[in-house]
Amino acid sequence: MTTEIVKISDDAFYSDGANYWAEIPATVDGMLGGFGFISQTDIKGSKMLLKQLFNSKTPPGRKYALDCGAGIGRISKFLLTDLFDKVDLVEQNAAFLQQAKKYLVPKIEKVGEFYSVGLQNFQPEARKYDVIWVQWVIGHLTDGDLINFFISCRSGLKANGAIVVKENITSTDEVELDRQDSSVTRPVALLRKIFDKAGLECYRQSKQTNFPKELYSVYMFVLKPKQTDYICTNEPEVSDEDVQSKPENKDTRDSHSDDLENVYNVIKENENCNFQTLHDNTEVPHPED
Ligand SMILES: C[S@@+](CC[C@H](N)C(=O)[O-])C[C@H]1O[C@@H](n2cnc3c(N)ncnc32)[C@H](O)[C@@H]1O
Repeated sequence: MTTEIVKISDDAFYSDGANYWAEIPATVDGMLGGFGFISQTDIKGSKMLLKQLFNSKTPPGRKYALDCGAGIGRISKFLLTDLFDKVDLVEQNAAFLQQAKKYLVPKIEKVGEFYSVGLQNFQPEARKYDVIWVQWVIGHLTDGDLINFFISCRSGLKANGAIVVKENITSTDEVELDRQDSSVTRPVALLRKIFDKAGLECYRQSKQTNFPKELYSVYMFVLKPKQTDYICTNEPEVSDEDVQSKPENKDTRDSHSDDLENVYNVIKENENCNFQTLHDNTEVPHPED
């Protein structure tokens, strides 16, 4: 796998991203980069995934969800408040959160907290959430911060809780940098390595269908803490292209503490230069192989 070295300081990476979003209108079209018309298809695919998760052998509860990088609350409004008793939102852009408060008025009895903070600085309350939804935002986090964010999310999950990541994926093995919005798009193998480093197991991986061809492929990953004692079921697939990921053999798995040690090594190596540590000769089998 090619190693891409991108030398941008973390501060510039985050401030450029925040400056980009500060200029974007607080609308669905703004949230989706001018592709507001895909919102319904997106929500439909996500709803199908969550319903399948609720029908699995160890389903998450339906009490509390967290919407990460929530923007104006599009996902909270059309997906999460329909399926959970309560939803919290976390978003770095204060203007988007202000708009979310108006946008979510019809569902306001289902809405809990609005956290105005970047995910790289966010620590969820321990064991609060059944599902943590993270969509179209992780490209704004450095690899090291993303690992730390997922570790924090793990501690925010209730028993049987899950993190769902829905994200653009590169069609090559390269990380692609978008200097305009200061984000990266990662290949599946790198994301899976990051999940692993954060102590998360990929329980399901599926591809969103019916999006315009010119867009990146969009994948959904259902993640659970590695130590969770769950049983992987042979559920129906979301689409023909879905892949049911197989849990690792427990005997060959690193212990939790070894895992964290690795994580901190990675973060240390990443301190001054992003995106160069995790995707060199990474031996993660591609799930579609
Ligand atoms: C492409 S929009 C997606 C919004 C929402 N997830 C959706 O699908 O409708 C990306 C969102 O991530 C937010 N964002 C960017 N960087 C962030 C960060 N470091 N922490 C939290 N949110 C961030 C932006 O402000 C924007 O609201």
